[in-house]
Amino acid sequence: MRNSSGLKVLFIGGTGNISAAVSRLALSRGIELYHLNRGRRNIPIEGVKTIQADISDATAAAKALDGHVWDAVVNWIGFTEPEMQRDIQLFTGKTRQYVFISSASVYQKPVSHPFITESSPLANPYWDYSRNKIACEERLMRAYRETGFPITIVRPSLTYDTVIPMAIGGWTDYTIVDRMKKGKPVIVHGDGTSLWMVTHSEDFAKGFVPLLGHQQAIAHAFHITSDELLTWDQIYQALGAAVGVEPKLVHIPSDDICAMADKLGQSWMRGNLLGDKSWSCIFDNTKIKTFVPGFRATIPFAQGIRRTVEYFHADPARCKVAEDKNDFVHQVLEIWNSRRPL
Ligand SMILES: NC(=O)c1ccc[n+]([C@@H]2O[C@H](COP(=O)([O-])OP(=O)(O)OC[C@H]3O[C@@H](n4cnc5c(N)ncnc54)[C@H](OP(=O)(O)O)[C@@H]3O)[C@@H](O)[C@H]2O)c1
Repeated sequence: MRNSSGLKVLFIGGTGNISAAVSRLALSRGIELYHLNRGRRNIPIEGVKTIQADISDATAAAKALDGHVWDAVVNWIGFTEPEMQRDIQLFTGKTRQYVFISSASVYQKPVSHPFITESSPLANPYWDYSRNKIACEERLMRAYRETGFPITIVRPSLTYDTVIPMAIGGWTDYTIVDRMKKGKPVIVHGDGTSLWMVTHSEDFAKGFVPLLGHQQAIAHAFHITSDELLTWDQIYQALGAAVGVEPKLVHIPSDDICAMADKLGQSWMRGNLLGDKSWSCIFDNTKIKTFVPGFRATIPFAQGIRRTVEYFHADPARCKVAEDKNDFVHQVLEIWNSRRPL
């Protein structure tokens, strides 16, 4: 494994679901790590130096960062092209590498081939989030071509640690777990057999940290995922097993879920499913394994999700049910059951 120590690195963000685990690994490898964030989260990361600022206020951020020169800057919270423009201005001549956290949802949908490599086409007509990430990547690549701005692009796919990575009903709240524990049905898109890879943030970190300061990573894009291929039924069943229940799974075609979601004012579901999780995607991790010899994800989902559940259970405040999300699942199931032939 490449020795990253001696690097001075800035994370914009840094206390999030993925970036906190990456921060801990970076510090353990001897990186001098700074965070720039608003300091709103109580996430203990020993050894990090925090610069408090709101990155959306470019003038305040520039002032807070004045005098620093970095080996690498990682923007964990870039979503639009103007933000890339801002960062090009902020960091030109100030960093030897600028890493943009994109998303594996940028890859072509509908998928024309289930094996996804970094050269798979980038196109997503279903999800503006993904199209904006593509625009960010293109703006940065242009900056590299025109001025040599030293970019690296990293595309996480579904990556979890402090979130519940379910396609419907999951994320920073406990809603889907609460439903499972109470014996209430949960929705699985399609017939539950489409394939996905879910990655623990600590595994992602093992591929990511050696890219920092990696001379050959400039102008390259990478995804970093687990190699464990699961059906969506298996993903939901592993969550159920982690809380000691057999979940009641209701299969509904993605097109029908999206049509119902549109009517319920949740049209973002179209991007989430048709622009991402409804397709069988098999991420080929050859490239990251070539640039980071020895990289291998080692946390099986059944094991990682138990740790995530323990994280939620460690603080009752985390076990909150999002009523709007619960209502959405309930309403979709009601509509579906009412029109389904017996
Ligand atoms: N998880 C996935 O499955 C997945 C998949 C694909 C792509 N991604 C990408 O991964 C990235 C998310 O990474 P993450 O999970 O580590 O992040 P996260 O959980 O969203 O954390 C956000 C971080 O940014 C800081 N922050 C938020 N607004 C800020 C502002 N205006 N100024 C300064 N700091 C701010 C937060 O701290 P404060 O609140 O204290 O400021 C926190 O440190 C995104 O770019 C997302 O598109 C994730």
